[in-house]
Amino acid sequence: MSEIQAKPVFKPNKEFSKNARIKNMCEYHELQDWATEDYEGFWGSFAKEKITWIEPFTNTMDESNFPFVKWFEGGKLNVAAQCIDRHLDTRKNKAAIIFEGDRGDKQVITYLDLFYNVNKFANLLKNEFGVQKGDRVVIYMPMIPEAAYAMLACARIGAIHSIVFGGFSAEALKDRIEDAEAKVVITADGAYRKDKPYMLKPVVDEAIDAKSPVQKVLVVERNNEDITWVAGRDYSYNELIKHQSTKCEAEVMDAEDPLFLLYTSGSTGKPKGVQHNSAGYILWAQMTMEWVFDVKENDTYWCTADVGWITGHTYIVYGPLAMGATTVMFEGVPTYPDAGRPWKMVEEHKINQFYTAPTAIRVLHKMGEDEPGKYDLSSLKVLGTVGEPIDPPAWKWYYEAVGGSRCSIVDTYWQTETGGHIVSPLPGATPIKPACATFPLPGIMAEILDPQTGERVEAGEGGYMCVTRPWPAMIRGVWGDNERFVKSYFGDVKKDGKPVYFTGDGAIYDEDGYITITGRTDDVINVSGHRMGTAEVEAAIKKHPNVAEVAVVGKPHELKGEGIFAYIVLKSDSGIADEVEEVKAINNVIKKEIGNIALCDDMVFVSGLPKTRSGKIMRRILRSIAKGEAITQDISTLEDPSVVAKIASTVQSCVI
Ligand code: WTA
Repeated sequence: MSEIQAKPVFKPNKEFSKNARIKNMCEYHELQDWATEDYEGFWGSFAKEKITWIEPFTNTMDESNFPFVKWFEGGKLNVAAQCIDRHLDTRKNKAAIIFEGDRGDKQVITYLDLFYNVNKFANLLKNEFGVQKGDRVVIYMPMIPEAAYAMLACARIGAIHSIVFGGFSAEALKDRIEDAEAKVVITADGAYRKDKPYMLKPVVDEAIDAKSPVQKVLVVERNNEDITWVAGRDYSYNELIKHQSTKCEAEVMDAEDPLFLLYTSGSTGKPKGVQHNSAGYILWAQMTMEWVFDVKENDTYWCTADVGWITGHTYIVYGPLAMGATTVMFEGVPTYPDAGRPWKMVEEHKINQFYTAPTAIRVLHKMGEDEPGKYDLSSLKVLGTVGEPIDPPAWKWYYEAVGGSRCSIVDTYWQTETGGHIVSPLPGATPIKPACATFPLPGIMAEILDPQTGERVEAGEGGYMCVTRPWPAMIRGVWGDNERFVKSYFGDVKKDGKPVYFTGDGAIYDEDGYITITGRTDDVINVSGHRMGTAEVEAAIKKHPNVAEVAVVGKPHELKGEGIFAYIVLKSDSGIADEVEEVKAINNVIKKEIGNIALCDDMVFVSGLPKTRSGKIMRRILRSIAKGEAITQDISTLEDPSVVAKIASTVQSCVI
């Protein structure tokens, strides 16, 4: 608490505030009061102003079947048209996407180029592959412009895309393809990372077996490495696109027609297909782009995320394009050829808003503390962070060395399920405190509640980060599993007897009502800003034939935020002679089942796990041991309390 109270406050830059969309806290409060007093009026008004409707909506919100909520019913629109067509009158020659490849190759795609490219792509999917409205299309792509074309082409014809991050393994891709029953996969032969080609298509080949719902695979030839082509199934995008017409009518979509699925980890079971629908999602993507990054007509905005995560969806593609901004897409890694790469890009492209993850900031700080000083970063106005709590030293370096103590830092808190930011500073209005997400955005009724009473917690007392009213970009469902949707998000906290949306995160107010996110309260680990469910990693490890039992916890990590720590009980007859080899073998299983992002930082072989008499693993104890903390929990209720001392001594002596 004292640490939070002691945080200094940084006022927004006066010059910046003058021209900002929300200029001061009075304006912020006016908006928030409007939403509180007339919730539907607030949202209805923005929806009318921001969306180019084909037919206007007749009902702003219907929550009679909560948590299955409908927004803007009766309204018809097309999200691709919202992102492209409506800009053609005023911005046809403006850069929509500026692409920079790993090797420094550059491409500027204007709104008119984007219009033609997306239309051709849409025609390809429709006419060559027979993709129809409502069909699911999996996109497994590197960070190249064709990934954005693919998303928008789906949106144009009403197909539902499901992007799978390119770092996921064949097994993980297969699970997601099958769960969504996708009939088409869009991929690339591969791409470049650190000046070397890497491959994606072989992973797709492995993910599609005889029983797969996939009928067609479209391959963008990016690195021209040799790949296998399956006749009748695999087609070259580069070839087929040549024959497509640049005219493609945008499908007329209902406000609540699904736009995309994005699989994300929860505390139990397999990843969930988070469903977002058309109007509510695109409205909030656009509004938050405008408010939180305050991008102006001539600005160049860069978000370093991957399109495989929600940040890439909302803040590389949909949000920036919906508002008619110029968005930068980068194929490479921020530390190649050196840790000055992002700053070189900021200088060269004259980037005005830069949005990245704390992990990247920590790595860039560690590997290139003085690099920002070598470049002209004076174009920067707003810096953003997302994905995990940012620690004060990283914040300070970002603020001073990158932002020249001149830029606002927007610590944006949100999740796959919220569609867009929900708690964040406004760069022209909010006095910021380091590592603090500050206040709910206007229209978002976010509150920290006591999970027992459902009351708002007092300053200094931790609670659960909740949203007490449905908002337009709220998750609409878990694909194919309504029950899981209700249980995962609306089961834990009730306010005034009514279930509210619970994010899974803990948070705390300070004396001034500022919100600091303290991290997940459930069994989700945040590795470099990537959500990993402990259950998922455990299920992968259990596939190794020598493993009898396993428990996985998160452990603080200097660069990644959290690392994965696995406690493994081997089968008694496994006869392991070499633990180092066994660690390698288990890591290989994880690689195969999930991908490199889920590799364990620590793995210890123990004789038993701490369990209650009913067989529940006490992860809190394992977390304490992993951190090297003293055990303060009551262990007398364990089935075998002596197991705790044994594990602790194994961990201390373990060098792996
Ligand atoms: C965490 C990423 C602290 C949080 C957009 C959340 C954050 C999870 C912040 C969602 C932040 C995101 N401060 N923690 N500014 N932003 N998180 O779905 O635990 O990949 O629940 O969405 O990241 O991760 P997801």
